[in-house]
Amino acid sequence: SHAAPALWRGRLAAEMHPAARRFRSSFAEDLALVDTDIDVGEAHVLELARGRLFSRRELARVLRAYEAARRDARRILSRPSAATAFHDVHPVVERLVIARCGEDVGGRVHLGKSRNDQVATDICVFARRGARATAAGAAGLQRALLGFALTNATEVVPAYTHGRAAQPTYAGHWALAWFDAASRDAARLLAAATRLNRCPLGAAAVAGTSVPLDRARTAALLGFDGVWDNALDATGARDHVLELLAALAIFQHTLSRLAADVIALSSEDAGVLSYPDAFADTSSAMPQKKNPDPLELVRARAGTVAGDLSGALAIVHGLGGGYSRDLQELKVLLWRSLATVRESAEVTALVVAGLGVRPGRGAAIVRRGFATAMDLADRLSLERGVPFRRAHFAVGRLVRTLAAEDRTFADASAAEASRLLSDAAGRPVLLDERTWRDWTDAAARTAARRTAGGPGDLPNQFARARRHLDEQHARLRALAVREERARKLLRAAVARSIKPT
Ligand code: ARG
Repeated sequence: SHAAPALWRGRLAAEMHPAARRFRSSFAEDLALVDTDIDVGEAHVLELARGRLFSRRELARVLRAYEAARRDARRILSRPSAATAFHDVHPVVERLVIARCGEDVGGRVHLGKSRNDQVATDICVFARRGARATAAGAAGLQRALLGFALTNATEVVPAYTHGRAAQPTYAGHWALAWFDAASRDAARLLAAATRLNRCPLGAAAVAGTSVPLDRARTAALLGFDGVWDNALDATGARDHVLELLAALAIFQHTLSRLAADVIALSSEDAGVLSYPDAFADTSSAMPQKKNPDPLELVRARAGTVAGDLSGALAIVHGLGGGYSRDLQELKVLLWRSLATVRESAEVTALVVAGLGVRPGRGAAIVRRGFATAMDLADRLSLERGVPFRRAHFAVGRLVRTLAAEDRTFADASAAEASRLLSDAAGRPVLLDERTWRDWTDAAARTAARRTAGGPGDLPNQFARARRHLDEQHARLRALAVREERARKLLRAAVARSIKPT
C-alpha cells in the first residue's frame, strides 16, 4: 500500500529503476529525522490552516494523521524494502498522511513546501540539538577535569615539551589546561548552534512561494530565533553544517591530545598517573598487560571525524547555489561525527574521573630530567646578578657534567654545585646548602611560578574555572529550556487543533 510515490512522477514515462531507487535513498540516515520531520510538517500545516488553506476539521484530521505517521514511519523506514520504495523520510510521511485522511485533504500538506526547505529545517533542528548535547558533553569533561584538579591540586607532575621533561608543574595545573581547551570547544559548539538557529521553512524549493505563509510563526513554533532570510540561501547553504563539523573535529582533536597525554603519563615509563581498571583492556597473550584501549580509540577517531569534515568540504565545494542532491551525503557524515564526538567526550570524562596521581613519581622524573634547570638559572639571574644568558650556560654545563655521571641535582652538594657553576660562569656563584636544595626543589620551584596562568597562580585559576562552569551551565540550561518550551508550544498547538470542538 505504501508503494513508490507514483503521484510524483507525472513528468516521467517510466518508474524509477530499482537499482537507482536504492542508490539515491537516504532512508537509513533519515530514521533519525522521523520525529523532527513530522514536527516540521505539523508546523507547516498549522500555518496553512491559519491562512484558511485547511478548515478546522481538515486540520484536525491532518494532524491526527501526522501523529499516526509518527508511530508508523519509523517501522516502515526500518524495513529493508524501504530503500527501494522511498527516496527518504519525507514521502514516507506524506504518503502515510494521505493514506489516512485521503488525497482531498492529505494531498494538500505539501502546498508551499519543498523537500529542500523541509530537509534544511530538519537538519537545523537535529544539528542544533546535537551541538547543544555535545557542548554539554564538553562541560561534563570539564567537570571531571576540575574534580581531578581539586583532588590532586599540588601533586608535582612533569610538563613536557618535545616529549621531554621540561618543567615541573602541578597536577591541578595540567588538568586545568585541558579544562580551558574543552571550554573553548564548548564555546565553538554553542556558536555553531547559534548559527543553526534560523528556520529555512517557507523558503520552499529555492526561490520562495506565492502561498501565503508567515515564516516567523513556523520558525517560532519550531523553536528558532527567527527565519533564515533569503530563500535561495536557506535551501542551498550548508556552511552551518560545515561549521558544526569543524567544531566537532576540533573538539575530537582536543580529546585525542588529552588521551595521548593520559596514555603517556600512565605508562610504565612515566607512571605518574594511575589509570582506572574499568577502562583498561588486557592481552589475550600477555597476562601482565593493562592497555588504555578506549583512549586509543578516542585518539584514532580524531582521524575519523577529520575525515567527515574533509569529506563534507569536498562534497559542498564547487556546488553552485540552490539545492543539489549532493547535499544529502552530508547527513551521514554529520550524524556519525555527532555520535562519535559525544561518545568520546563521555568516555574520556569517565576515564579522567578515575585517574589518580602516584605520589613521588612526577618528582622523580623532574629530578632525572633536571627539569628545574630554568628555575635555577632564573634564581642565579634574579638573586646573584648573573646575566640570564650566562646563567643559562653555567646551569647547562652543570647539567652536562652531572648527566655524564648519571647523577642529578640532588646528588650534588652545594659546594660541588657552587664550584661547577662558578667555573662555567667565570665569576663566583656561591650557594649554601639550603639555597641549593631550595633552588632545585621541584615543589618549591613550581610554587614560585606565580605569574598569571602559572602553577603558583592555581587558586585564581580554580576560582575562574568554577565561575566559568557556572556561566556555561546557565547558558546550556537556557538553551535546553528554550528547546523544551518550543516543543511544548508545538505540542500544545497540535493538541488544541486536534481536540474536537
Ligand atoms: N533526501 C534529501 C536530502 O537529504 C531530501 C531533499 C531532496 N530534494 C530533492 N529535490 N531531491 O537532501
